[in-house]
Amino acid sequence: MTKKKIVVLSGAGMSAESGIQTFRGAGGLWNGHDVMEVASPEGWEANPKVVLEFYNQRRKNAHEVKPNQGHLLLAEMEKDYDIQIITQNVDNLHERAGSSNVLHLHGELFKVRSTVDDSLVYELDGWELNWGDKCELGSQLRPNIVWFGEAVPLISTAFTIAKTADIFVIIGTSMAVYPAASIVDYVAHQIPKYIIDPDIPPVYGINNLHKIEMGAGEGLAELIEILRSS
Ligand code: APR
Repeated sequence: MTKKKIVVLSGAGMSAESGIQTFRGAGGLWNGHDVMEVASPEGWEANPKVVLEFYNQRRKNAHEVKPNQGHLLLAEMEKDYDIQIITQNVDNLHERAGSSNVLHLHGELFKVRSTVDDSLVYELDGWELNWGDKCELGSQLRPNIVWFGEAVPLISTAFTIAKTADIFVIIGTSMAVYPAASIVDYVAHQIPKYIIDPDIPPVYGINNLHKIEMGAGEGLAELIEILRSS
């Protein structure tokens, strides 16, 4: 029997229980930073060393934490379901938990890329990328992150994946950033959708939506029970 396809859209809340800050909640990462200074092409142009340091700190933090119960449950669910994760997160906790189908919509913290050829992407060993670190063509390397104002290269792939969902699960995202927040619009009306968040964000006009007002770990345990009994 073919496994049901569960498409997951995860956000910063997925990694909160691992100790990684979310962006917009209390104590959120953006509260302490000027987003445009550290996560935009303009910020990079103006002061690349500030941007490099911002991502070095995030990589250092991401290096020190580990996957939480939510990441582990999603990986375990692959035994019973065909799981495809679309994540807005740039950490690698889904992969480290054992999930095998992870699409990073906003880039990856532990990858860097050439500033003259976007196709030249490299795994970063360790957690530091510094001024003067160059690609094979001799240009400065930059974080392989989608900054504000930049195109989201994998968004059409994400829309296509959303259309294949038998079940759609939103975990730990404020649904505040587009085009990621519009992925749910590509899931067929009749498909059951679940949103797991201790503080369910305002979501309007989504058919067949079930709210699980819990953190990622507890909420996924609850979802597994719901799916087992349905
Ligand atoms: N479990 C699940 N969800 C949680 C938890 C938790 N333990 N703690 C907080 N949350 C929820 C919050 O209630 C909120 O709805 O996670 C969500 C985090 O929202 P944001 O901080 O806005 O993060 P996200 O939605 O991923 O941001 C989207 O914005 O800054 C850009 O590129 C960045 O990918 C990011 C995008």
